[in-house]
Amino acid sequence: MLLLCGEMTMSNIDTELLRALPKAELHLHLEGTLEPELMFALAERNEITLPYDSVEALRDAYEFGNLQDFLNLYYQGAAVLQSEEDFYDLTLAYLARCAEDGVVHVEPFFDPQTHTARAITMACQFRGILRALEEGHKRWGITSRLILSFLRHLSEEDAVVTLQQALPWREHFVAVGLDSSEKGNPPEKFQRVFDQVRALGLKAVAHAGEEGPADYIAQALDLLKVVRIDHGVRCTEDEQLVKRLIDQQIPLTVCPLSNVRLKVFSQMSDHNIMQLLKRGMCVTINSDDPAYFGGYLLDNFLAVRDAIGMSKAEAVQLARNSLTASFMDSETLTQHLSRLEQLAQQG
Ligand code: ADE
Ligand code: ZN
Repeated sequence: MLLLCGEMTMSNIDTELLRALPKAELHLHLEGTLEPELMFALAERNEITLPYDSVEALRDAYEFGNLQDFLNLYYQGAAVLQSEEDFYDLTLAYLARCAEDGVVHVEPFFDPQTHTARAITMACQFRGILRALEEGHKRWGITSRLILSFLRHLSEEDAVVTLQQALPWREHFVAVGLDSSEKGNPPEKFQRVFDQVRALGLKAVAHAGEEGPADYIAQALDLLKVVRIDHGVRCTEDEQLVKRLIDQQIPLTVCPLSNVRLKVFSQMSDHNIMQLLKRGMCVTINSDDPAYFGGYLLDNFLAVRDAIGMSKAEAVQLARNSLTASFMDSETLTQHLSRLEQLAQQG
């Protein structure tokens, strides 16, 4: 596709160059990487009967009218995760896909409350995930920073207990997030627990402006003092907020395939990510729950490119945003940025 830009015509970036650009994934739920094949394998390992006859029947059920439709299946699926080995296998399978897509750094979320509610201990979850992150670094050189996420449909007291349970693992995660059913669960519900999070020296991030209103984005910034907004695409409903996000260069971790599958946008060509990028917002592309939404990180880039158009310069800017918005150390950042600039210069 040729992109018309004023007088100039620009062509879309090539797939292999997109793959080669060093990229970070900043919005990814480990439980959302549970492919149907692995779900069946873990169900068998743990002697659980799934309410589907086959992998195909399960995949066929992945038709969602909204976020809650998806979350119902997502929490049901997560029930097959029972042992340290299960969390290890889940995480390592995700990292193997990252290696294929040119992802050099990941900051995955996990939802401990989904598992502690089933008597799966915090230790079991951390051990399995951390061992896989180490293995992924050894095998593919992928660096990582883990993010613990609170479920916003549960109470703030439950989040406080979860934070307490995670304290022995404090050195092994860098930030705390907020996910699950957004509407009716505003950031202000979690203001006190996020005060505790930041007092521990952890960074704060939150899902906001996915299905919820633009005001939830402002609340996440003002009350939870988040340093990134997960999704945030509904910011365009408040022009003042858009200006603020641009001025303060607050990163948005946008998930294009997720937004289409959950009907935030009716089709990819309606997605606002490239408009936000052109306005100078620090937007990034991510896969959210790739096993449920039809694609990993590179698939998300390609879907946007094919539906809206993405020049090489725009793809490089998206990759650059993902690196600079990450929590990676400055030496690693410098190395990836210099590789990215090299690729940007090549004809
Ligand atoms: N948990 C997993 N994926 C999510 C999403 N897209 N929004 C809110 N909570 C989630
Ligand atoms: Zn998400």
